[in-house]
Amino acid sequence: MAQPLTHDVLILGAGLAGLRAAVEISRRLEGKVDIGIVSKVQLMRAHSVCAEGGTAAVLHPEEGDSFELHAWDTVKGSDFLADQDVVHRFVRAMPEEIRLLDHWGIPWTRDAKGRIDQRPFGGHSFPRATLAADKTGFFEMQTLYDTLLRTKCFTRYDEFFVTEILVEKGLFAGLVGIHAASGETVVLRGKALLIATGGGGTLYGFTTYSQTVTGDGMAMAFRAGLPLEDMEFLQFHPTGLVPSGILMTEACRGEGGYLKNNQGDRFMAKYAPKLVELAPRDMVSRAEQTEILEGRGFHSDAWGDYLHLDLTHLGAERINTRLPLIREVTIKFLGIDPITTPIPIRPVAHYSMGGIETDINGLTRIPNIWAAGEAACVSLHGANRLGSNSTAECLVWGGISGGEIVKALPGLAFEPVPGARFKAAEGHIDELLRREGKENLYVLRRELRAAMDTNVAVFRTGEGLTKALATVRELRERSKHAPVDDKGRTYNSNLFHALELENLLDLAEVTVAGAVTREESRGAHARRDFATRDDQKWLKHTLAWYTGQRPRFDYKPVTINTWKPVERKY
Ligand code: FUM
Repeated sequence: MAQPLTHDVLILGAGLAGLRAAVEISRRLEGKVDIGIVSKVQLMRAHSVCAEGGTAAVLHPEEGDSFELHAWDTVKGSDFLADQDVVHRFVRAMPEEIRLLDHWGIPWTRDAKGRIDQRPFGGHSFPRATLAADKTGFFEMQTLYDTLLRTKCFTRYDEFFVTEILVEKGLFAGLVGIHAASGETVVLRGKALLIATGGGGTLYGFTTYSQTVTGDGMAMAFRAGLPLEDMEFLQFHPTGLVPSGILMTEACRGEGGYLKNNQGDRFMAKYAPKLVELAPRDMVSRAEQTEILEGRGFHSDAWGDYLHLDLTHLGAERINTRLPLIREVTIKFLGIDPITTPIPIRPVAHYSMGGIETDINGLTRIPNIWAAGEAACVSLHGANRLGSNSTAECLVWGGISGGEIVKALPGLAFEPVPGARFKAAEGHIDELLRREGKENLYVLRRELRAAMDTNVAVFRTGEGLTKALATVRELRERSKHAPVDDKGRTYNSNLFHALELENLLDLAEVTVAGAVTREESRGAHARRDFATRDDQKWLKHTLAWYTGQRPRFDYKPVTINTWKPVERKY
């Protein structure tokens, strides 16, 4: 084993949560700390740059918004599966995050009075999505990175594919990874690890995620012995551009856009009479799917089924100033100008509500590993996340976990790297490179996505889920006969594809097996065969544990300290 590369803190994943944590650690320690930021892509290519519409925060209590209202919206949106202590902490922390970013230089969009502007978003009873046009994630990332650059306390490990989180005697000991440019297998050591690698939405073919987001951190944490929580809850965003799946931000509807069926009807009035297009995402996606299934959608051979997102009544000025990215993307990808023509959309896989179980401080069950952002499940979103609460979560728990790491550091030490475990990790890479057989990695990934798109979608049935689970297990067997054709070491994206497939298959099994087991409908998990919420049996969080064979499930209670579950009406 080559000499390990050593840092006080390792941050795995360089999106919003990872960068926010790095900023927090460096500002609290006034730069007297050594952080390694590890990412499989170049730092500013993390998927967070794709976040569009806004970041939720209560900024105007004098106009009627309040922490209680934001908390209630979040809990009701979650279909009462969110932990309410977590929600209360979140809403109170958010305004400061908006002000910090402002202080650090983000170009927030301003209103006519020069104040930081906010727009309506689905399921929120006040306009509280804070925006930088429709490129909010990009500007948040850029601002955090610029802020971090003012300190000299971090080292970037870009294009560094981590294959294993080493845990020995119940403590984090190091990361094993392949440095793409050199092809070397390297060990990184740190006293503390933060996992902030994002979600797992490329389990699906029709998805808003960048192709690089393959749930690696969640899968590695799972195999390292940490439970994954509530993985059966996968969000479908109502407006994915067809046929690519590119996100057409909810801000399109926040700015006043309509959803229309093939009769020209604004069908949401039927499903959510009060909030109409701005109902929560689980409801809008189900409504769209129902319209399509009942024959009121559009269809083309090239695009499949779709509905219309109509912005034509908003006018050129509003679209150009508030939704410039949407206009650019629809023109470039489809030759459609939303100023004059409705946009073809349908529900699209967008967000993992589940993730690595953490406590309210972002700490996992391993005392020197934290997780934050979409990779984590601090249990803020429950069964259905409200739009604009996810970039917000990344900021809040990036900050919280960064602060917690700073507090813990004096009591932490470098743990010895287990040589045998490193050898096994290295051996696994060699084994993949030597693997022979007639299967094709890319075909297998396509088949996995097709199974998820078909059977683990907006509406689910026991029969479809069981079929998908069988497919996942069959694909795992077949993957043992899928060779890595590129035998080289440098920039071996073929090898990374094989490693990603292993991660995706682990996540798929947990997701689908959890969905088969949960015999109720709650939030984004809508079963035809168990069509109602069952609080008696299922008001509880799912925990999935790695066994080396099939995942083992157990459950834990939801923290309900303010609002008892009631029927959700919008
Ligand atoms: O629609 C959007 O802009 C997405 C926001 C989110 O997922 O929070």
